[in-house]
Amino acid sequence: MSFPQHRLRRLRGSEKMRRMVAETRLSRDDLLLPLFIVEGSGVREPIASMPGVYHFSVDQVVDEAKRVQDLGVPGVMLFGIPDAKDARGSGADQADGIVQRAVSAIKEGASELCVITDVCLCEYTDHGHCGIVEGEEVLNDPSLERLSLTALSHARAGADMVAPSDMMDGRVGAIRATLDQHGFENLPILSYAAKYASAFYGPFRDAVGSAPEFGDRRGYQMDPPNRREALRELRADVEEGADILMVKPALAYLDIVADARRTFDLPIAAYHVSGEYSMIHAAAMQGWIDGERAMLEATISIKRAGADIILTYAAADLAARLED
Ligand code: PBG
Repeated sequence: MSFPQHRLRRLRGSEKMRRMVAETRLSRDDLLLPLFIVEGSGVREPIASMPGVYHFSVDQVVDEAKRVQDLGVPGVMLFGIPDAKDARGSGADQADGIVQRAVSAIKEGASELCVITDVCLCEYTDHGHCGIVEGEEVLNDPSLERLSLTALSHARAGADMVAPSDMMDGRVGAIRATLDQHGFENLPILSYAAKYASAFYGPFRDAVGSAPEFGDRRGYQMDPPNRREALRELRADVEEGADILMVKPALAYLDIVADARRTFDLPIAAYHVSGEYSMIHAAAMQGWIDGERAMLEATISIKRAGADIILTYAAADLAARLED
């Protein structure tokens, strides 16, 4: 049966009607806010390439975390930006490192928040790669120990969850084993399982100073044309003990988010990354699009594709605008 028996416009006639038949609803509970932490105190410095996003020192990030908690956002993802970097990324697993200090401060000041840490070496290595480097090669197996120790140090600092984003093979299993050996068998792993080598990370790499000094990340992050391969990555992480699977970036990879949702029973997360976020702001600043509407539309499309959890720099702004 079709027109004129059916008129799809009937259910679109008013806001109350549209609300009633909406298939997807965005809630604050769906959102996680990434936060960038730098050394020093009293620092609350806007990041030029990411409007509305800041570098916070540990003392300041606690205030921000309280604000985020009061807005009803359930959690944050922490990225540390140390002053000193070296070849092994020694700063990544120090007990008094930047992220470790931020975790304990936030746990104390905003105790309702789920504090998740990004586990990677790229912010801590002078060459900017996500693992140990020999010549121009990023070595897989030797990187696993560094990553595992980094995750362990975050756990010891009190993190509620760890999120490896390096894309070395076997890292979820290695981290799981290390956590278990040290009594953290109940600490969940949110794995950046299908992470693509994307141009959309540009503003983030500016923000954390992690653009690789040589080469690029295509030797370990996924190649954008590949869809079936994402299922292999996701499956590997399920088998290695991941608790939540993430697809990244989100908007340019909604097919992968949908595949992940259809194929696995684990919660699916998607990361609306820096470039995707900043493009909306840039266009809005030119007056070319309505930034608030575009941000909401982008976020709801990620949920519609199947994501249960959405990492977005707009999490606090959206939470302030959402009804529940
Ligand atoms: C790596 C990491 C990156 C992002 C999150 N974790 C950058 C990269 O792989 O180069 C990107 C996030 C964003 O662009 O918003 N630790």
